[in-house]
Amino acid sequence: MPAVAELAVLDHDAVLAAVSPEVAIERVRDALLRHHHGEWVMPPKVYLDSPPYGDFRAMPVRGEGLALLKWITSFPENPARGLPTVTGVICLSDAGTGEPLMLLDARSVTALRTGAVAAVATQVLARPQAQTIGIIGCGLHGAWTARCLAAAGYGPGVCHDTRSEPARRLAGELDWDPGSLEQALRCDAVCCVTPGNAPVVAVGDLHPGLHLNMLGADGPGKAEASVEAVSACVLFCDEWEQASHGGELTGAVAAGLVDRDRVSELGAVLAGEVRGRPDREAVTLFDSTGLAIQDLAVARAALQAWREGQVKAQTVRL
Ligand SMILES: NC(=O)c1ccc[n+]([C@@H]2O[C@H](COP(=O)([O-])OP(=O)(O)OC[C@H]3O[C@@H](n4cnc5c(N)ncnc54)[C@H](O)[C@@H]3O)[C@@H](O)[C@H]2O)c1
Repeated sequence: MPAVAELAVLDHDAVLAAVSPEVAIERVRDALLRHHHGEWVMPPKVYLDSPPYGDFRAMPVRGEGLALLKWITSFPENPARGLPTVTGVICLSDAGTGEPLMLLDARSVTALRTGAVAAVATQVLARPQAQTIGIIGCGLHGAWTARCLAAAGYGPGVCHDTRSEPARRLAGELDWDPGSLEQALRCDAVCCVTPGNAPVVAVGDLHPGLHLNMLGADGPGKAEASVEAVSACVLFCDEWEQASHGGELTGAVAAGLVDRDRVSELGAVLAGEVRGRPDREAVTLFDSTGLAIQDLAVARAALQAWREGQVKAQTVRL
C-alpha cells in the first residue's frame, strides 16, 4: 500500500492563531478577484434540511491547486440547548492528487471570513472618510465582523444587541461603545449580523453616505432590512445567484423591486469592471450570503501558516 500522508487538524484556537484578521481580509479580497476572473471554481451550496432543528450545508470550491469542502450547520434552537448555532468541519485537499491535507474547525474559519468580507466591502464601498461602525447583533459573527473592521482601521463603533451583555462585552474588548439601535444606525458604516428574524433597518433609517453590510440574512426566509429600504440603496452582493435566492436581496427581488441589472458583485467592483459607490450621498448596501471561496481563502492561509511552522496542529493518518 502507498504511504498515507499526515493530515493536520486545526481546532478553533489553532485557526485563529494561524490567520489574523488582517491576513483574512487580504486573502478574501484576493479570492473575490480570482473567482471573478474564473480562476476559482465554486458550485452552488447544497442545503440538507434537518427538520425541525435546522439544516446542513455542503460548500465545495477549488482554486490555487487546492480543493475544499465545508460541511456546516445552522441549528437556530441550539443555544437554548447550550450548544452553538453553527458547527462543522472543513476538509482541504490537494487538487492535483485528491489527498486530504488539513481538517479545520469550520466555525472559526466562517467567523473570520465573514468578518473579513465585511471589511473588504466597507473599504471598497463606504465613503473614503467613513470611520464609525455600527454593529447590530453582537453574537459570534457580529463580534468577528467588528474585530475585522477594527483591524482594517475603522472605529470607534457602536455595538447594539437586544441582549445587553454581548454588546457591552464587544464594546469593552474594542474600546467602542454599547448603544441603541438608533445610535448604531447613525454610524458611517453599519453591519447587520442578527439571525434575520425581523428587519432592523427601515427606509427612514437611511442617511446620506451610509454604507450597509447585511450579513445575517444568509438563507431563505431571512431579512434584516425592509424591502423598501433595500430597494432605496445602491446594491452590491457577493454572488447574485445566492443573494437573489437566499439573501437580503431576495425579498426585494421577489416583490419585483430589484432585478439583476441593479446589483453589482463585489468581485466585479474590485476588478474595476463596474462602478462602486456612485457619489458621496448614495446609500450603498452589500448583501453577504457567504461563499466557499472565502473559506478557501482562509483555509489556504492556515495551511501556509502550518507548513511554515507558525502554528502547531494535531496530526492524524486516516
Ligand atoms: N453572511 C455570511 O457569510 C454569514 C456567515 C455566518 C453566519 N451568518 C448569519 O449571521 C447571523 C448571526 O449569526 P451568529 O452566529 O453571529 O449568531 P449569534 O446567535 O451568535 O448572534 C446573533 C446575535 O444577534 C442578536 N439579535 C437577535 N435579534 C436582534 C435584533 N433584532 N437586534 C439586535 N440584535 C439582535 C442576538 O441577541 C445575538 O447576540 C445568522 O443569521 C447566521 O446564519 C451569515
